[in-house]
Amino acid sequence: MSSPTTKGIKNPRARHGFRGRTCSIASVGSYVPERVLTNADLEKMVDTSDDWITSRTGIKERRIAASDEYTSDMAAKAALRAMKKGGILPEQIDLVIVATITPDMPFPATACLVQQKIGAFRSAAFDIEAACSGFIYAMEIGQQFITSHTYDTVLVIGAEKLSSIIDWTDRNTCVLFGDGAGAAILQSRANAHGLLTACMGADGSKADLLSMPGGGCRCPATAESVASRLHYLRMEGKETFKSAVNAMYTAAQESLRRCELDITRIKCIIPHQANQRIIEAVSERLEAKPDQVFVNLDKYGNTSAASVAIALDEAVESGRIQRGDLILLIVFGAGLTWAAAVIEW
Ligand SMILES: CC(C)(COP(=O)(O)OP(=O)(O)OC[C@H]1O[C@@H](n2cnc3c(N)ncnc32)[C@H](O)[C@@H]1OP(=O)(O)O)[C@@H](O)C(=O)NCCC(=O)NCCS
Repeated sequence: MSSPTTKGIKNPRARHGFRGRTCSIASVGSYVPERVLTNADLEKMVDTSDDWITSRTGIKERRIAASDEYTSDMAAKAALRAMKKGGILPEQIDLVIVATITPDMPFPATACLVQQKIGAFRSAAFDIEAACSGFIYAMEIGQQFITSHTYDTVLVIGAEKLSSIIDWTDRNTCVLFGDGAGAAILQSRANAHGLLTACMGADGSKADLLSMPGGGCRCPATAESVASRLHYLRMEGKETFKSAVNAMYTAAQESLRRCELDITRIKCIIPHQANQRIIEAVSERLEAKPDQVFVNLDKYGNTSAASVAIALDEAVESGRIQRGDLILLIVFGAGLTWAAAVIEW
C-alpha cells in the first residue's frame, strides 16, 4: 500500500495505490410506455405509408408515453427493474447518471428526479447529453468511478420522451422516433473484464444535421420561435445516414482492434436502433453475420439514448447473451457523436 501522505497532503485515492479494478454490468432493465403507435396510425396523421416506412427504416410501430408520463418516470421504472434483477437496494447506489435529450425540464437534472423516485437518497446525480450516443457515453463515465474505486455502484440510464419534441406534421422525422428507457447497474465483478473498452468520438462541424434549434440560450422560447416550430427536432436524413454508417463502422473497428478481437468472437452486436438499412450497412462492412446482430427497432423505432439500453435488456432477457459472452454495442447520434463498446458480459 503506497503512503497516503505526500507533501503533507492526504490524497484519498492513494489508499488504493491507484490500482484500477474492472467494471461490469451487474444487471439491466428497461421500460416502454403502453401506447403503441403503428405505421397505419401514422398514415392517418401525415402523407406516408406503411410500405414507405417499412422499406426505408424497418420500423413498424413505436411506443408513445402518456401526457403525464415523463422521462424521469420511464427512467425510474427501468432503473427499478434493473435493481430488482440485480438484487440492488436503493441505498447501495452511489451515483445516478441519466443520458437524455428530453429531460423533464432544462434543469434540474432528470437524474435528481429519478434519484427521488427510486429512493437512492445517498447518491450523487447528474445528466449527460450526447443524444443517441448517450448510453455508452454515460457507461464510460460511470466506469471511471468504479475502476478508480471512487464508487461501488453506479446506475446508468438512457431515457427519452422524444414524442415531446417531434413535429407530428413533419413526415420526414415523425415516423422515426419513439419513447422508452433502459438502465444498467455498474459494479466491479470478480474475474470478469466487463467493460473492456469504449471508443467514443464527436464531430461538432456537423451539429446542424440533427438538432432542436429552439429552447436554448441561442433561441429562447418566444411566440415567434414556437410559431416557427423551432422547438422540434430537425434532421437532414440523407447526410445523417451516411455519417452514421461511417462513424459506427470506424468506432466498432477501433474498439475491436484495441481488444485484439476479430468480429467472429463477438456473440451479439447491439447497434443503435435507428434504421434497419444503417444496421445492415454497418454489419456488412464489419463482415458480421446476421445472426450476430440484435434488432428490435421494428417495435420501438429510434428511442435515442434509450435505444441500445432497451435492446441490451431484451437481448439478455431472451437468452441471446450469457455471462462470459463478448458483446459489441455501437451508437451514433446528434452532435454528431458516436461510440462503440466491447463488453465481456
Ligand atoms: C429519413 C430516411 C429514412 C429517408 O430515407 P431516404 O432513403 O434518404 O429517402 P429517399 O431519398 O428515398 O426519399 C426521400 C423522399 O421521401 C419523402 N419522404 C420522407 N419521409 C417520408 C415518409 N414518412 N413517407 C413518405 N415519404 C417520405 C421525402 O419527402 C422525399 O420526397 P421527395 O424526393 O419528393 O423530396 C433516411 O435518410 C434515414 O434513415 N436517415 C437517417 C435518419 C436517422 O436514423 N437519424 C437518427 C440518427 S441517430
